[in-house]
Amino acid sequence: MDTYDRRQVMKLSLPGFLGIALSLPSLIASATRANACLGRIPSEATINWDAFLSLIEKEAAQQHLDHWNEETYLKQASAIASRLNLNDPHLLAVFNRYKEGPGIGNGRIDFGKLERQKNFEISFLQFEKGEVIPHHDHPSMTGLLLCAAGKIKTENYSLIGKREQKDSYLLKHSNTTVLEKGKIATLTSKERNIHRVSANELAQIIDIFAPPYNKQRAADSSYFTVDEEIFQGQAGIYEATVKSP
Ligand SMILES: [Fe+2]
Repeated sequence: MDTYDRRQVMKLSLPGFLGIALSLPSLIASATRANACLGRIPSEATINWDAFLSLIEKEAAQQHLDHWNEETYLKQASAIASRLNLNDPHLLAVFNRYKEGPGIGNGRIDFGKLERQKNFEISFLQFEKGEVIPHHDHPSMTGLLLCAAGKIKTENYSLIGKREQKDSYLLKHSNTTVLEKGKIATLTSKERNIHRVSANELAQIIDIFAPPYNKQRAADSSYFTVDEEIFQGQAGIYEATVKSP
Protein backbone atom coordinates (compact mmCIF):
# COMPACT_ATOMS: atom_id res chain seq x y z
CA MET A 1 0.00 0.00 0.00
CA ASP A 2 1.29 3.49 -0.87
CA THR A 3 2.03 5.92 1.93
CA TYR A 4 1.38 9.64 1.79
CA ASP A 5 3.04 12.45 3.69
CA ARG A 6 1.17 15.49 4.99
CA ARG A 7 2.29 17.63 2.06
CA GLN A 8 0.89 15.15 -0.47
CA VAL A 9 -2.42 15.00 1.33
CA MET A 10 -2.60 18.77 1.43
CA LYS A 11 -2.11 18.81 -2.34
CA LEU A 12 -5.01 16.45 -3.05
CA SER A 13 -7.50 17.58 -5.64
CA LEU A 14 -11.15 17.81 -4.67
CA PRO A 15 -12.05 14.52 -6.47
CA GLY A 16 -9.12 12.86 -4.72
CA PHE A 17 -10.26 14.11 -1.35
CA LEU A 18 -13.81 12.94 -2.01
CA GLY A 19 -12.51 9.53 -3.03
CA ILE A 20 -10.71 9.12 0.27
CA ALA A 21 -13.71 10.43 2.22
CA LEU A 22 -16.00 7.95 0.49
CA SER A 23 -13.74 5.03 1.29
CA LEU A 24 -13.37 5.96 4.98
CA PRO A 25 -16.28 3.83 6.26
CA SER A 26 -14.88 0.69 4.63
CA LEU A 27 -11.37 1.54 5.85
CA ILE A 28 -12.70 1.91 9.40
CA ALA A 29 -14.65 -1.33 9.08
CA SER A 30 -11.52 -3.12 7.86
CA ALA A 31 -9.51 -1.72 10.74
CA THR A 32 -12.12 -2.84 13.25
CA ARG A 33 -12.24 -6.26 11.67
CA ALA A 34 -8.47 -6.53 11.82
CA ASN A 35 -8.45 -5.42 15.43
CA ALA A 36 -11.05 -8.01 16.34
CA CYS A 37 -9.00 -10.73 14.67
CA LEU A 38 -5.93 -9.78 16.63
CA GLY A 39 -7.84 -9.77 19.86
CA ARG A 40 -7.32 -6.04 20.38
CA ILE A 41 -10.96 -5.42 21.17
CA PRO A 42 -11.50 -6.08 24.90
CA SER A 43 -13.25 -9.43 25.31
CA GLU A 44 -16.31 -7.82 26.91
CA ALA A 45 -16.65 -4.88 24.51
CA THR A 46 -19.55 -4.50 22.11
CA ILE A 47 -18.59 -5.37 18.56
CA ASN A 48 -19.92 -4.16 15.25
CA TRP A 49 -21.27 -6.35 12.46
CA ASP A 50 -17.96 -6.71 10.61
CA ALA A 51 -16.02 -7.67 13.72
CA PHE A 52 -18.81 -10.08 14.63
CA LEU A 53 -18.59 -11.82 11.23
CA SER A 54 -14.81 -12.15 11.54
CA LEU A 55 -15.04 -13.71 14.99
CA ILE A 56 -17.83 -16.13 14.01
CA GLU A 57 -15.92 -17.13 10.88
CA LYS A 58 -12.86 -17.92 12.98
CA GLU A 59 -14.90 -20.17 15.29
CA ALA A 60 -16.95 -21.83 12.54
CA ALA A 61 -13.80 -22.65 10.55
CA GLN A 62 -12.87 -25.11 13.28
CA GLN A 63 -15.71 -27.46 12.31
CA HIS A 64 -13.30 -29.18 9.91
CA LEU A 65 -10.84 -30.09 12.65
CA ASP A 66 -10.81 -33.50 14.32
CA HIS A 67 -11.33 -32.02 17.77
CA TRP A 68 -14.41 -29.95 16.74
CA ASN A 69 -16.84 -29.91 19.60
CA GLU A 70 -20.24 -28.44 18.77
CA GLU A 71 -21.14 -27.45 22.33
CA THR A 72 -17.78 -25.70 22.76
CA TYR A 73 -18.25 -23.88 19.46
CA LEU A 74 -21.76 -22.80 20.49
CA LYS A 75 -20.46 -21.52 23.79
CA GLN A 76 -17.87 -19.40 21.97
CA ALA A 77 -20.32 -18.30 19.30
CA SER A 78 -22.88 -17.35 21.99
CA ALA A 79 -20.27 -15.24 23.78
CA ILE A 80 -19.55 -13.48 20.49
CA ALA A 81 -23.24 -13.04 19.61
CA SER A 82 -24.01 -11.59 23.03
CA ARG A 83 -21.46 -8.83 22.29
CA LEU A 84 -22.96 -7.93 18.91
CA ASN A 85 -24.14 -4.33 18.80
CA LEU A 86 -27.80 -4.71 17.83
CA ASN A 87 -27.79 -0.99 17.04
CA ASP A 88 -25.14 -1.47 14.38
CA PRO A 89 -26.27 0.66 11.39
CA HIS A 90 -26.12 -2.34 9.04
CA LEU A 91 -28.46 -4.32 11.30
CA LEU A 92 -30.72 -1.41 12.17
CA ALA A 93 -31.31 -0.79 8.47
CA VAL A 94 -32.48 -4.41 8.09
CA PHE A 95 -34.56 -4.39 11.30
CA ASN A 96 -36.31 -1.15 10.35
CA ARG A 97 -36.88 -2.15 6.75
CA TYR A 98 -38.74 -5.29 7.84
CA LYS A 99 -40.56 -3.57 10.70
CA GLU A 100 -41.87 -0.84 8.45
CA GLY A 101 -42.01 -2.80 5.25
CA PRO A 102 -44.54 -4.93 3.39
CA GLY A 103 -43.75 -7.86 5.71
CA ILE A 104 -46.14 -6.47 8.28
CA GLY A 105 -49.58 -7.99 7.97
CA ASN A 106 -48.64 -10.40 5.20
CA GLY A 107 -49.58 -13.44 7.30
CA ARG A 108 -46.23 -15.17 7.13
CA ILE A 109 -42.81 -15.09 8.73
CA ASP A 110 -40.40 -12.84 6.86
CA PHE A 111 -36.99 -14.20 6.08
CA GLY A 112 -33.80 -12.61 4.79
CA LYS A 113 -30.15 -13.58 4.33
CA LEU A 114 -27.65 -11.50 6.26
CA GLU A 115 -24.48 -13.43 5.41
CA ARG A 116 -23.39 -16.64 3.77
CA GLN A 117 -19.85 -17.98 3.86
CA LYS A 118 -18.25 -21.36 3.33
CA ASN A 119 -18.54 -22.37 6.99
CA PHE A 120 -21.69 -20.62 8.19
CA GLU A 121 -24.72 -18.62 7.22
CA ILE A 122 -26.72 -15.99 9.05
CA SER A 123 -30.39 -15.31 8.48
CA PHE A 124 -32.87 -12.76 9.71
CA LEU A 125 -36.44 -13.68 10.61
CA GLN A 126 -39.34 -11.50 11.62
CA PHE A 127 -42.37 -12.99 13.38
CA GLU A 128 -45.62 -11.21 14.01
CA LYS A 129 -47.90 -12.07 16.90
CA GLY A 130 -49.18 -15.64 16.59
CA GLU A 131 -46.76 -16.71 13.87
CA VAL A 132 -45.11 -20.10 14.29
CA ILE A 133 -42.47 -22.25 12.62
CA PRO A 134 -43.70 -25.80 13.37
CA HIS A 135 -41.40 -28.50 14.74
CA HIS A 136 -38.52 -29.05 12.33
CA ASP A 137 -34.96 -30.31 12.43
CA HIS A 138 -31.56 -29.12 11.22
CA PRO A 139 -29.72 -32.27 10.07
CA SER A 140 -25.95 -32.30 10.67
CA MET A 141 -25.97 -28.62 11.67
CA THR A 142 -25.45 -26.45 14.70
CA GLY A 143 -27.69 -23.47 15.24
CA LEU A 144 -27.67 -20.32 17.33
CA LEU A 145 -30.76 -18.17 17.66
CA LEU A 146 -30.28 -14.60 18.90
CA CYS A 147 -33.35 -12.55 19.79
CA ALA A 148 -32.83 -9.06 18.35
CA ALA A 149 -36.22 -7.54 19.23
CA GLY A 150 -39.41 -8.56 21.01
CA LYS A 151 -39.77 -12.01 22.55
CA ILE A 152 -39.47 -15.39 20.89
CA LYS A 153 -40.40 -18.80 22.28
CA THR A 154 -38.33 -21.82 21.36
CA GLU A 155 -39.26 -25.40 22.30
CA ASN A 156 -36.41 -27.82 21.68
CA TYR A 157 -36.27 -31.60 21.45
CA SER A 158 -33.54 -34.17 20.90
CA LEU A 159 -34.17 -37.11 18.61
CA ILE A 160 -34.04 -40.40 20.50
CA GLY A 161 -34.63 -42.57 17.43
CA LYS A 162 -37.12 -44.26 15.17
CA ARG A 163 -39.64 -46.59 16.74
CA GLU A 164 -39.19 -50.21 15.77
CA GLN A 165 -41.54 -51.28 12.98
CA LYS A 166 -43.31 -47.93 13.12
CA ASP A 167 -43.21 -44.82 11.00
CA SER A 168 -42.80 -42.62 14.04
CA TYR A 169 -39.96 -41.24 16.13
CA LEU A 170 -39.42 -40.61 19.81
CA LEU A 171 -38.23 -37.18 20.91
CA LYS A 172 -36.97 -36.00 24.26
CA HIS A 173 -38.06 -32.51 25.24
CA SER A 174 -34.95 -30.59 26.31
CA ASN A 175 -36.10 -27.02 26.94
CA THR A 176 -38.78 -24.43 26.42
CA THR A 177 -37.40 -20.91 26.58
CA VAL A 178 -38.80 -17.45 25.97
CA LEU A 179 -35.95 -15.27 24.73
CA GLU A 180 -35.88 -11.53 25.17
CA LYS A 181 -33.69 -9.10 23.25
CA GLY A 182 -30.04 -10.16 23.39
CA LYS A 183 -30.78 -13.69 24.68
CA ILE A 184 -29.69 -16.83 22.87
CA ALA A 185 -30.80 -20.44 22.31
CA THR A 186 -28.65 -23.11 20.67
CA LEU A 187 -28.87 -26.55 19.10
CA THR A 188 -26.28 -29.11 18.04
CA SER A 189 -26.60 -31.80 15.38
CA LYS A 190 -27.59 -34.25 18.15
CA GLU A 191 -28.98 -32.22 21.05
CA ARG A 192 -31.98 -29.85 20.89
CA ASN A 193 -31.85 -30.19 17.09
CA ILE A 194 -35.63 -30.20 16.62
CA HIS A 195 -37.51 -27.09 17.58
CA ARG A 196 -40.72 -25.13 17.27
CA VAL A 197 -40.36 -21.36 17.23
CA SER A 198 -43.24 -19.02 17.94
CA ALA A 199 -44.01 -15.43 18.88
CA ASN A 200 -46.73 -13.71 20.87
CA GLU A 201 -45.61 -10.28 19.75
CA LEU A 202 -43.52 -8.80 16.96
CA ALA A 203 -40.11 -10.45 17.22
CA GLN A 204 -36.95 -10.29 15.18
CA ILE A 205 -34.27 -12.93 15.37
CA ILE A 206 -30.86 -13.69 13.93
CA ASP A 207 -30.03 -17.33 13.15
CA ILE A 208 -26.47 -18.58 12.73
CA PHE A 209 -26.05 -22.02 11.18
CA ALA A 210 -22.75 -23.85 10.91
CA PRO A 211 -22.30 -25.46 8.48
CA PRO A 212 -24.62 -23.51 6.17
CA TYR A 213 -27.51 -25.12 4.33
CA ASN A 214 -26.64 -26.87 1.09
CA LYS A 215 -28.81 -28.96 -1.22
CA GLN A 216 -28.27 -32.14 0.81
CA ARG A 217 -28.94 -30.60 4.21
CA ALA A 218 -32.03 -28.84 2.89
CA ALA A 219 -33.28 -32.10 1.37
CA ASP A 220 -32.66 -33.98 4.63
CA SER A 221 -34.68 -31.46 6.68
CA SER A 222 -38.09 -32.49 7.97
CA TYR A 223 -41.12 -31.03 9.64
CA PHE A 224 -42.73 -33.09 12.40
CA THR A 225 -46.12 -33.51 13.98
CA VAL A 226 -45.45 -33.98 17.69
CA ASP A 227 -48.03 -35.53 20.02
CA GLU A 228 -49.31 -33.18 22.68
CA GLU A 229 -49.38 -35.98 25.28
CA ILE A 230 -46.25 -37.67 26.59
CA PHE A 231 -45.44 -41.12 25.20
CA GLN A 232 -46.67 -44.05 27.31
CA GLY A 233 -46.47 -42.05 30.53
CA GLN A 234 -42.76 -41.25 30.11
CA ALA A 235 -42.00 -37.72 31.29
CA GLY A 236 -40.49 -35.50 28.60
CA ILE A 237 -40.82 -38.13 25.85
CA TYR A 238 -43.04 -37.47 22.84
CA GLU A 239 -43.91 -39.44 19.74
CA ALA A 240 -43.59 -37.63 16.43
CA THR A 241 -44.21 -38.34 12.79
CA VAL A 242 -42.59 -36.71 9.79
CA LYS A 243 -44.91 -34.51 7.80
CA SER A 244 -45.02 -35.36 4.15
CA PRO A 245 -43.35 -32.68 2.01
FE1 LIG B 1 -35.02 -23.90 13.04
